[in-house]
Amino acid sequence: MDDKIRILLSEEEVAARVKEIAEEISRDYDGKPLHLICILKGGVFFTCELAKRINLPLTLDFMSVSSYGAGTVSSGIVKITKDLDEPIEGKDVLIVEDIIDSGNTLAYLIEVLKQRNPNSIELCTLLDKPERRVKDQVKVKYTCFTVPDQFIVGYGLDYDQIYRNLPYIGVIEQQ
Ligand code: HPA
Ligand code: MG
Repeated sequence: MDDKIRILLSEEEVAARVKEIAEEISRDYDGKPLHLICILKGGVFFTCELAKRINLPLTLDFMSVSSYGAGTVSSGIVKITKDLDEPIEGKDVLIVEDIIDSGNTLAYLIEVLKQRNPNSIELCTLLDKPERRVKDQVKVKYTCFTVPDQFIVGYGLDYDQIYRNLPYIGVIEQQ
């Protein structure tokens, strides 16, 4: 726990940007019901703050996924470790992620969810690391911040499961 963490985005900067994105989402969906899917665990802090500021009839569900083992990471095959509670057929779905890097897991997840016939499916992320992208078919509709290819913690993002609860977004400094 004695890592040195440099603040990249302060609590205030994150709050202001989340509010902006929530307003954009509220305008785009124009009074229609929206179904948020939070990707656990990292997406949970962002999802809560975002949901509170979206002015639409909103429902929430949660999903947890993990890569299918070391050798298959590049294939993008993922295991659903916690599936949704509710069907998404006919719904306008917005997937909420903490960070998108390679896009492998998400590309697979989107294909799985599309087979359940939502009315629409879009992606919203707190952070995007485009330098790491290998799956360019992953189109992100809402991005709060684009970050450099450094190891980020806080606001849901962990290092070995710690630091998720930091109220800001930081980078672990090499000691
Ligand atoms: N930090 C924490 N978790 C992550 C990151 C990161 O930079 N990239 C992908 N998962
Ligand atoms: Mg993690």
